[in-house]
Amino acid sequence: MKGNWVCSKPSSSQQRNHNQIITDKLEVLMKTYQNTKDHWRSLGYRKAITALKQHPKQVTSWEEANRIPGIGTKLADKIQEIIESGHLRKIDHVCSGDDMKALDMFNNIWGAGPTVAQEWVQLGYRTLDDIREKAKLSRQQKIGLKHYDDFLERMPREEAGAIEATVREMAVSIDPAMMAVVCGSYRRGKTTCGDVDVLVTHPDGKSHRGALGKILDGLRDKGFITDDLVRQGDDEEDQKKYMGVCKLPGEKQKYRRLDIIVAPYNQYYCALMHFTGSGHFNRSIRLLAKKKGMSLSEHALRTGVIRNGQVKVHEGTPLPVTSEEDVFNHLGLEYREPEERDY
Ligand code: TTP
Ligand code: MG
Repeated sequence: MKGNWVCSKPSSSQQRNHNQIITDKLEVLMKTYQNTKDHWRSLGYRKAITALKQHPKQVTSWEEANRIPGIGTKLADKIQEIIESGHLRKIDHVCSGDDMKALDMFNNIWGAGPTVAQEWVQLGYRTLDDIREKAKLSRQQKIGLKHYDDFLERMPREEAGAIEATVREMAVSIDPAMMAVVCGSYRRGKTTCGDVDVLVTHPDGKSHRGALGKILDGLRDKGFITDDLVRQGDDEEDQKKYMGVCKLPGEKQKYRRLDIIVAPYNQYYCALMHFTGSGHFNRSIRLLAKKKGMSLSEHALRTGVIRNGQVKVHEGTPLPVTSEEDVFNHLGLEYREPEERDY
């Protein structure tokens, strides 16, 4: 297989980032362009950052930077400036104003995207107190603001494990055969987690139905779930996703983001792969599937997909998937443990 596919290499084989001084600075700009909805620019930066992280050595000249695919003359200019001065003046111009700082802060409120954040800045708001006192907030944004500091902080792995155990105990108390597995960064072995993603299913293929409501009721009664953010998916046959807030018992505990996904058993392994990530790994493996005339989603791996440009003319037929290994096999990839998908 030709090409530089992230999903075809274990993440531990990933080179150390030899260009972190450069990528750190470019990441600041990328984030700013995301905040201002400058999608093309932020995409350009993301590609350049990925290429720089994969570059086998420290970039030391304009020419070397410019030779890297995805890095044009303008980016090479910036890289040269960082190499020579350790600094990028553009960051001072673009990111350091009060407007930009406010924009970044508002973007970090759960439920507030770049559009709302920009509106608030245009209305003259600059602080979280401004938002609290003057902004018209959605129900979710109120929760996001209430837990602003807690949500920005990543939790220790042990705490994510305790949260998973709480959800699993509740699921099993409802039906002993119910399965509840933590995915996301935790399953990839990270030492800290931004949130906890728990995937629930039932091996009989039908008892997952109605389970989410019961689990949530039980966890609310215990005082474990404190706020609800979003609940998606009403179709009894399909996946359901709940996003909310929880807190372990004890005075000093913080409020943490919890996602619970319920999947029918025949979609379980594709869901497990999707919610394990990483996001970068998922983008890579989905693109690879596409190149092979297949499609991979959190629901299924399909073959015989016919596309006319971006449009699917025929959605293909699902392949049998009864393990994560199956997905790798069908795609002609060597199996990767979750820890090896951490790109
Ligand atoms: P997240 O919980 O957002 O990511 P994470 O668990 O990897 O990292 P964190 O510690 O910050 O929580 O999403 C869980 C998985 O869902 C993620 O690993 C891959 C998948 N996912 C995507 O494929 N694309 C996306 O845009 C998002 C948000 C998630
Ligand atoms: Mg997560």
